Amino acid sequence: MKVVLASKNKHKLVEISKITEKFDIELVLQSELGIDIDVEETGTTFEENSFLKAEAVMKASGLPALADDSGIAVDALNGEPGVYSARYGFDDSLDDWGRLELLLKNTEHVPDGQRQAQFVCVITMVTPEGKTIQARGEIHGELLREARGENGFGYDPIFYYPPMGLSTAEMSPEDKNKVSHRANALNVFYEKLKEAGYADK
Ligand code: IMP
Repeated sequence: MKVVLASKNKHKLVEISKITEKFDIELVLQSELGIDIDVEETGTTFEENSFLKAEAVMKASGLPALADDSGIAVDALNGEPGVYSARYGFDDSLDDWGRLELLLKNTEHVPDGQRQAQFVCVITMVTPEGKTIQARGEIHGELLREARGENGFGYDPIFYYPPMGLSTAEMSPEDKNKVSHRANALNVFYEKLKEAGYADK
């Protein structure tokens, strides 16, 4: 079965394919099928936004489609930046590093012991027959006060994971892939595909 990944990002294709290739699923990027839509993320939850992306690409392609949505949620900011992580500050001049600095500034007042944060990832598959399979994964940690580590991307340098004593930017990619929100969501997704009757290869 061919499934379209609602993304132009080859890295996501490689990561998600590691799970879907265990099934009779051939995952292809939307760009490989010439689908050039950028879905507006108008939802207020990761579930809504990943569903909106998957649904739009399913409709455009006529094939089952899969999308993910992710971000960082800070408890002391009532879950912000959350679904707005990639657009935090709503300032087009900010890059990943600018958004990281903005988050540090906006949490300066939050005392140690109250700096809990989560990375969240939701994966959704929508089929033309109207079936939806959705899986959520999280990783729980704390916001640091300054950047640590060179790996990863986005908010990784300020996300501290106590069980390993490292920021997610200090972890090797292999270690991050064992504990990350995306890995956890993919594991749940794997179980849900099986429950939905998709056969293991
Ligand atoms: P999207 O899921 O591609 O819409 O973007 C999610 C945004 O959340 C990214 O731009 C990053 O800023 C942030 N984010 C998601 N996952 C991670 C991660 O594993 N490490 C660091 N930042 C992340």
